[in-house]
Amino acid sequence: MDKIVALCKRRGFIFPGSEIYGGLSNSWDYGSLGVELKNNIKQAWWKRFVQNRDDIVGIDAALIMNPKVWEASGHVANFQDPLVECKKCHSRFRADNIKDGICPNCGEKDSFTGEQMFNLMFKTFIGPTEESSNTAYFRPETAQAMFVDFKNVLDTSRKRLPFGIAQVGKAFRNEITPGNFIFRTREFEQMEIEYFFPTPQNDSDWNRYFELWRKEMLSWIKDDLGVGLEKVYEHEIEASELAHYSKRTIDFEYDFPFGRSELYGLAYRTDFDLRNHEKSSGQNLKYRDPDTNEEFIPHVIEPTWGVDRSVLVTLIDAYSEKDGKVILKLKPKLAPYKAAVFPLLANKPELIKVARKIYLDLKQDFMIAWDDRGNIGKRYASQDEIGTPFCITVDFQSLEDKMVTVRDRDSAKQERIKISELREYLGDKIK
Ligand code: GAP
Repeated sequence: MDKIVALCKRRGFIFPGSEIYGGLSNSWDYGSLGVELKNNIKQAWWKRFVQNRDDIVGIDAALIMNPKVWEASGHVANFQDPLVECKKCHSRFRADNIKDGICPNCGEKDSFTGEQMFNLMFKTFIGPTEESSNTAYFRPETAQAMFVDFKNVLDTSRKRLPFGIAQVGKAFRNEITPGNFIFRTREFEQMEIEYFFPTPQNDSDWNRYFELWRKEMLSWIKDDLGVGLEKVYEHEIEASELAHYSKRTIDFEYDFPFGRSELYGLAYRTDFDLRNHEKSSGQNLKYRDPDTNEEFIPHVIEPTWGVDRSVLVTLIDAYSEKDGKVILKLKPKLAPYKAAVFPLLANKPELIKVARKIYLDLKQDFMIAWDDRGNIGKRYASQDEIGTPFCITVDFQSLEDKMVTVRDRDSAKQERIKISELREYLGDKIK
């Protein structure tokens, strides 16, 4: 983890938030390369699960919703963790994170206060007066908007069951013990889908959708993030541990350097949310079957992905070292830069002119880096470290034959490609 954190800081992927003020505990800012990687992940997800499918539509809802949403969803009553405080150093921890009664901060044994339940929602006030009647919450999950907007989406999209509503956006949780870099933070992003289907007549009716999404989630990890499944585990959550809304949950866990931990989740939320919102709002949230005219509240399967955990697992899995040098083997689709363009020598205007034209042309379609400093070996190493899959060098021969050397990051193989075919070449490789 130390190597990943150092690389992220050194090359501008991710740095500590508010650093000039000494930081803010466990807050992180994405830098110029990090934001590209993160956006590429979100775009790949949106393309795969929204744009490429006929049965899923997207929304982008407000972060602060009517507080009644969180009463109906059960979050005001149930979204809480048990908190204990060390009587010696006054540090606070989640009770289930304490091992053998030892304080992780000062090492004192059996010096904890009794457990207190602590609600994880971030509170704020709407308007100028800080009165309890003005209390609102930053959303702790993006999911609720998909239930609250269900009727509007249904009426405007005219989708038939089964269909899903997707959203990507920020969520906030006042975590008692954030940590492990961007793994657990108080402000993070989620990519979530609520996939609605008719009232199941038996377990196999909902298990069918659960199984479909289980496979989709594994395929996303492997095919879109490029992360090998050898370190991915499915953890069936025991009935006593299930979230208040879930009948079945699988956590997809990954062997992170700090231990096996949750990457994503898949839950069968039954009709819990729509039913409660219907009761609480007094609005009809039923689906009317166009063939039978029958009205009912759909059930839902929820696959949920953390964006920041996706970034973290992608970085960890892509990180490799060769001869003491870092190579970030990101999938070309996810890499911040798709290629870097180098003039062989920085002091030859005829090389610069051709290289510059290639750079500007390719930049119309791809994120392209420019580097004319130092020797070519150093430039390769610098691009390898940030995962740039292709380096394009313009040399003296290029002036004659209108071809350039393209070097592949992972194999280090070099081939000559016609300048006029570079765009197609990169397009194919990235796809
Ligand atoms: N709507 C269901 C839901 O929110 P969750 O398991 O609490 O379920 C979903 O969260 C995903 O969000 C997790 O699998 C994880 O990837 C991500 N996530 C949750 N809490 C997080 C935190 N504090 N920091 C970063 N990511 C988090």
